[in-house]
Amino acid sequence: MKIFNDIFELIEYRKGLKGDVGFVPTMGALHNGHLSLIRNSIENSDFTIVSIFVNPTQFLPNEDLDRYPKREKADIQICKLAGVDAVFVPSSSDIYQKSEPVILAPNKKAYILEGAKRPGHFDGVLRVVLKLLNIVNPTNAYFGKKDAQQLYLIQNMVSTLFLRTKIIPCEIVREEDGLALSSRNVYLSDKDRKKALNISKSLKLASKAMMKGEFDCDVLKNIMKETMKELEIEYIEMVDRDFNKIDKIVLKNSIILVAAKVGETRLIDNLWI
Ligand code: PAJ
Repeated sequence: MKIFNDIFELIEYRKGLKGDVGFVPTMGALHNGHLSLIRNSIENSDFTIVSIFVNPTQFLPNEDLDRYPKREKADIQICKLAGVDAVFVPSSSDIYQKSEPVILAPNKKAYILEGAKRPGHFDGVLRVVLKLLNIVNPTNAYFGKKDAQQLYLIQNMVSTLFLRTKIIPCEIVREEDGLALSSRNVYLSDKDRKKALNISKSLKLASKAMMKGEFDCDVLKNIMKETMKELEIEYIEMVDRDFNKIDKIVLKNSIILVAAKVGETRLIDNLWI
């Protein structure tokens, strides 16, 4: 497996690859969620490239950039064992220049939900993903449905900027007890982890209610709120697949999104219906 720190060395390597290239952008601290994206890419591509880059521009000033888990050696080992062809670990000073054009995420859809709680976050996400897609020039790029709004905004960027990469959405990977995998789960104490389980539990209960024919979003929200009453709920919201808020769930076109704080740790989860 090749390891690249230098952007232009990776570009040269990429030029030599004949066949489909799959790309999995990550911020490292790899877990089984990342691994499922990597496996998906390996199964469906001739070559797989994984990037590990804790992107400073997507963190707000008061967020966890400084303490975001870094496990580069272990991550590289995980990629090697999985059968990745190349890992790209650029430095921030190579990715960002002092003066450069900047992409801004589309106003309305990037400033609701996650964007309302983390204003400017998606500008940073799109900024780095655009750069990474330009560097790697992949045939397909794999993103998790766990970050549903991020996935939507990336799909929107790729189509409106006429980029040639196909975005492949991947299913949410959970622990056996339902907790959605996240690099931030390492922040949770045992007690907080138990509390955090109420997030996925609330989505399961909403799902059960829908199976019984309950599609009213206010009713579903109340069920979820009750289950998550020990947590600091940031939002529980229902949107269609275009991220417009909805009052009634429409099958195959809705997403229930949740963000909540457990102690100091902010977690998100969602359910695609
Ligand atoms: P990161 O949080 O490291 O996630 C990298 C990719 O893994 C994202 O596409 C995310 O949705 C996916 N992922 C995370 N947890 C998952 C889970 N439990 N199941 C399925 N997929 C999961 O998202 C980012 O990094 C950054 O914003 C990035 C896109 C790399 C830009 O910096």
